[in-house]
Amino acid sequence: MIEKYKFTASSTAFHSFHLCCCVLMLVTLIPLPSSAEDIVRPERAAVDIAESHSGIVVSDTDIASQIGADILAQGGNAVDAAVAVAFALAVTWPEAGNISGGGFMMVAPPNEEVVCVEYRETAPACVDEHSFEKWQERHHAQMAGVPGTLRGLELAHKKYGSLPWDQLVKPSIRIAREGIVVDEYLAYSLNRVLTLSSIKNEKRFAEFRRLYGKANGELWQAGDLLKQPDLAITLEIIAEQGADAFYTGGIAKKIVAEMEEQGGLITAEDLKNYKANIRPAVSGQVNGYTLYGAYPPSSGGITVLLQMRMAEAVGLEMDPENYWNADQVHLLAEISKRAFRDRAAYLADPDFSSIPEFMFSNQYAQKQAEKISRNQATSSIEVAGEIPISNLPEESLETTHFSIIDRNGMAVSNTYTLEGTFGCRIAPKGTGFVLNNEMGDFNWIPGYTNQQGRIGTKPNLMNPGKRMLSSQSPMIVRKDGEVALIIGSPGGRTIINTVTQILVQTLLFDRPLVEAIDGPRFHHQWFPDEIKFESDDQEQLTRLTRSLIDRGHTISRPKGWLQGSAHGIEYDPLTRTAVGVADWRRGGKAVAVPQIVPLKEKAVTNDSQ
Ligand code: DON
Repeated sequence: MIEKYKFTASSTAFHSFHLCCCVLMLVTLIPLPSSAEDIVRPERAAVDIAESHSGIVVSDTDIASQIGADILAQGGNAVDAAVAVAFALAVTWPEAGNISGGGFMMVAPPNEEVVCVEYRETAPACVDEHSFEKWQERHHAQMAGVPGTLRGLELAHKKYGSLPWDQLVKPSIRIAREGIVVDEYLAYSLNRVLTLSSIKNEKRFAEFRRLYGKANGELWQAGDLLKQPDLAITLEIIAEQGADAFYTGGIAKKIVAEMEEQGGLITAEDLKNYKANIRPAVSGQVNGYTLYGAYPPSSGGITVLLQMRMAEAVGLEMDPENYWNADQVHLLAEISKRAFRDRAAYLADPDFSSIPEFMFSNQYAQKQAEKISRNQATSSIEVAGEIPISNLPEESLETTHFSIIDRNGMAVSNTYTLEGTFGCRIAPKGTGFVLNNEMGDFNWIPGYTNQQGRIGTKPNLMNPGKRMLSSQSPMIVRKDGEVALIIGSPGGRTIINTVTQILVQTLLFDRPLVEAIDGPRFHHQWFPDEIKFESDDQEQLTRLTRSLIDRGHTISRPKGWLQGSAHGIEYDPLTRTAVGVADWRRGGKAVAVPQIVPLKEKAVTNDSQ
């Protein structure tokens, strides 16, 4: 077990001595980067693949995927595993995994409706539409929304879980206390933030430094041990007392005390009033498949479905020679412009403004698709319609997605987030976790939408208790009533395009999921009016640029930019085989549950020996 979870292999004096010497040598030989820009991203790895008849978990970390697979092997269902993975990611991928952010969990129980367990953060009661009009700071206690994760996990577990709650939390208590072996992705993630001058120097980040900083201010290296004893205690309390400890108990007190000290907005009343919801899935047919996505306050479900319906309507065709070709990129960029414009115009918390019915309809998607020229880009200004666009400068992305299927075909697609990397980076003292900075997902300046991507449309303005609009797009796809695909990704607004492009490749072009996840991605979000390409595939851009510029597109390729980290599962109901694929972009692991031999069969085998 210890080996499997990659705890430090040994605590013997010899091993520690050896490790210390290596680290010392590295520190003396390699000059320490002084700023976040100098931290080198891990080399490109291959996608990670697993195949099974008994269940698969795909997440951002080896340990979290293994913990989820163990829960499935212990007889837990996909929701039990999802709860355990969510806790494990809070320990092993703390830039995004969390108990103090929010998200969306799509659940597809066999032969039942797919639902969305929605646990998006809310605005504290003291805000109004103008509260953040002049606000600039992204990493400040004021940026924290009222967290939803624990109420969400509690709700999912109460409705669908089969194993005791504490059994799902315990593996994470253990890894937090005993420590996890830092891999190259976690080292990169920690070092990027710890080398920021604000984090190094400002008093409000002292608790962050205490939690995540390495002794003597050294950089983290793959192979180091990260222990999180405060988080272990917090998780122990949650295992015993449930989510109430966080919303009304001792943990709530610590959160409120930090808010008071650091100028945050969340009160004890805000925490007490927080509720997660079960919402219907947004669903629709595309090419014989039924897609199920997250209901608002995520824009993900509606926008991905709108884009997929438009992609089907314009007749996107597979090109076996090219992944992607200029026609496909042109059409998908035109689709995104229109879909992201409608997202800004109509989508927000459904408890505060009603979503127009046409946004759910196939006819509307068809009509929008008819407006697209095959040869000429339409400018984003023209697509804006009645939304006034200002011409002033500006804007700023951490989220994590996991996919699970169990041996009975129950599927979970979960995306949750702290918003930015390590959220607002303010940790309530002694709790071992950082808070989200999700208030940044509201529209801050009423009426102010600009060409750099800031949006000021009315539906997503701030209000007390309101949920900020999200782009999280966990999806489940069924064919003939059976699960066919589970997918999602992090990446802010790029999530919608990452997920759409994987669905186009798999559902419209019939490409295997592994190719769809491995292949290059691009992004258009209405404003800025540009197609942004990943920087990894030089050849692809050279091939596409001339033709796209000729049609009126602007192209950008920011150095080092990679789009999302999509972890998915495809399922063949005929052979009951699931294939899990973890993206290469931020690391990730697909872990298969070993074939479970029924007891009877075992007995027969034993008898015959
Ligand atoms: O909910 C949202 O849309 C954003 N807060 C997600 C942020 C995100 O994906 C950042 N990850 N890379």
